[in-house]
Amino acid sequence: MKLNHFEKSIISHPLRLWVQARIEAPLSLSMFPAGPGNIESALEIGCGFGQGVELIKRHLGGRRIVAIDLDEEQVAFVSRKYINDPGIEVLMADATALPFADNRFDLVCNFAVFHHIVDWQHAVAEVFRVLRPGGYFLLEDLYRLAICNPLSRRLFEHPQVNRFNHQQLLSGLASAGFVLIKERCLLDLTGVILVQKPVRD
Ligand SMILES: C[S@@+](CC[C@H](N)C(=O)[O-])C[C@H]1O[C@@H](n2cnc3c(N)ncnc32)[C@H](O)[C@@H]1O
Repeated sequence: MKLNHFEKSIISHPLRLWVQARIEAPLSLSMFPAGPGNIESALEIGCGFGQGVELIKRHLGGRRIVAIDLDEEQVAFVSRKYINDPGIEVLMADATALPFADNRFDLVCNFAVFHHIVDWQHAVAEVFRVLRPGGYFLLEDLYRLAICNPLSRRLFEHPQVNRFNHQQLLSGLASAGFVLIKERCLLDLTGVILVQKPVRD
């Protein structure tokens, strides 16, 4: 589901960049016990106005980054921003039907996207498919308590069915085959999770 005007203005506000640099970047890095390692190829689902691309590039060391979003305005904005960067490709695509081959990426990131997707379990399965064995999936998201309340319903447009809390998101990731590396939950409102696609022999 696309964002309404108010949510777009929040995620494109300069304060959002400050929060990302001061809070999200160190938090994301702290999720990797031995650092993110060699990230040759990364995917960001639901890239919004491109702040996540910046985080993956500057703080997680992603060399080639593919960013996707459903919203043509945001895809056009991020494409223009990185027009001269050959390491960054921006596409309009749906996280529940990723247009990529199996086992392609070393890292996939979801910065606040699943709470916009009704069938988020399907998106989890797609992320599992496109990650290489041993690859990481880093997620930050908003939970039922944060979006299914009168104030949030008045201000934003979020699906209200099949929403999830931290435990349900962890269960969905485990059901898809992911192994938990690290997780943090804040007041049942939001959480950060790092999981890994296992290497099978
Ligand atoms: C709350 S915004 C977060 C944007 C960005 N990741 C950030 O942290 O600033 C959610 C984004 O997910 C996108 N989105 C929603 N459903 C999607 C889907 N099924 N596939 C791809 N992107 C989706 C929206 O268009 C929006 O840009």
